[in-house]
Amino acid sequence: MKVPIKTKVNGKLYEQEVEARSTLLDILRDELKIKSVHRGCEDGECGACTVLLNGKPVCSCLVLAAQVDGAEITTVEGLLKGDELHPLMLAFIENHAVQCGYCTPGVIMTAYYLLNNLADFTDEDLRRGIEGNLCRCTGYIHIIKAIKAAKKCKDSGNWW
Ligand code: FES
Ligand code: FES
Repeated sequence: MKVPIKTKVNGKLYEQEVEARSTLLDILRDELKIKSVHRGCEDGECGACTVLLNGKPVCSCLVLAAQVDGAEITTVEGLLKGDELHPLMLAFIENHAVQCGYCTPGVIMTAYYLLNNLADFTDEDLRRGIEGNLCRCTGYIHIIKAIKAAKKCKDSGNWW
């Protein structure tokens, strides 16, 4: 059975007919070809598929496409300003928080949410905040460092 949905993804409007059993992950990757949204466990455990749904991070593998009618969705591409990388992305690169990169788009979306919603935080807050995003490469030390560096950018007004 097909269900009509309208969404705004990274600022662009889409009208689609989706299978009732399709997930948000399916339509982002397979139909809209947004390949930064990674398919990992498909069980809500790894966070590789994290996107912002109406501004909040969700595992897109756990959300049915039919549920997102009328919603606004942001993937890591939505943080770009033209060809310009977001300061948070640059902080990940500069602080060596990316190795294989499989977890990275999801981690960045969670970090973006945390930075925009926590006025201040401790390292422990950050560790808890990103606990739903598994990274098997970095050991998290550099990810925490990158998020803290990004906070300095945000506090200095270098942010969007
Ligand atoms: S693929 Fe969605 S949480 Fe792992
Ligand atoms: S950088 Fe490889 S899983 Fe995180």
